[in-house]
Amino acid sequence: MQKVNLKKYLSKKAKYVNSALKRFLPKDNSVISQGMRYSVMAGGKRLRPICVFLAAELFGGKAKDVLPAACAVEYLHTYSLVHDDLPSMDNDDLRRGMPTNHKKFGEAAAILCGDALLTEAFNLITKANAEDKNINKAVNVLADYSGYKGMIAGQAEDTLETGSWSEKNKEILEKKLKFIQIKKTAALIVASLKIGALLADADEKGLKSLEAYGTNIGIAFQITDDILDVYADKRLLGKNGSDADNDKLTALSLFGKEEAERIAYRHINKAKNALSIFGDKAEIFLHLADYMTSRNC
Ligand code: IPE
Ligand code: IPE
Ligand code: MG
Ligand code: MG
Ligand code: MG
Repeated sequence: MQKVNLKKYLSKKAKYVNSALKRFLPKDNSVISQGMRYSVMAGGKRLRPICVFLAAELFGGKAKDVLPAACAVEYLHTYSLVHDDLPSMDNDDLRRGMPTNHKKFGEAAAILCGDALLTEAFNLITKANAEDKNINKAVNVLADYSGYKGMIAGQAEDTLETGSWSEKNKEILEKKLKFIQIKKTAALIVASLKIGALLADADEKGLKSLEAYGTNIGIAFQITDDILDVYADKRLLGKNGSDADNDKLTALSLFGKEEAERIAYRHINKAKNALSIFGDKAEIFLHLADYMTSRNC
């Protein structure tokens, strides 16, 4: 792709995702359907669906064909946010610039709404226009990377591991933090890239490169998320920032801002190197990598 304008690409693709999400979301007026529409359409950067498109396009696929899979990943991501905000998790009041799902609909409805989005994600992904064997692989990837070995393992370490701060050994804390970054955040980004690539019939070597790219941009993405939690303009960010109140182990709390930023840049460079096999074809991925740290929301 010549002369990439990433901002334009992101906003065009986000609009494309938004109109598809509107079509796919339930139309009835049950509380759960209202809650699904509320949280999915509240906004969001649509970064994960865009990763699905980019990876598919890298292997000659078309955004149109992987659109249901892209929306499936956004459903799954939104469910994770609805549950992440619950009082028993991060206890947040604001998400995507709006009251969190449980603030608007109550806690029980928010739990069920998350469950519904998670379940429906697996329905949606099967509707991609691809060979059955590739859809099967994509479904497996979504389950593996979002489940108990992936995102849930990261959320558990982030949320259930109380007392980690009394653990004074910095090396152990660094390991814990890396686990959290890779599992709770990078896993779904890697899954999105692999899903797009698999649906476009990517080869093993290409998938491996994308995995390395996704892991590194995912870590940088979470480091930036941790920094923004404290330093961002909260109106732009659309969330209030609760890491300090919750005494979370984050890149910011462990390393401080400057060192955390340095670590993020190192991961950006690693991500870019991972795609060298694609040459010019991967130019937009290099811009996307930079966006992980340059974003302000
Ligand atoms: C927030 O993700 C949760 C993390 C994994 C850090 P995003 O920053 O992508 O949230 P939206 O989708 O744009 O709202
Ligand atoms: C949430 O991480 C990650 C998942 C929902 C899987 P955070 O708790 O840091 O996300 P924000 O800051 O609330 O968006
Ligand atoms: Mg959290
Ligand atoms: Mg949170
Ligand atoms: Mg955060």
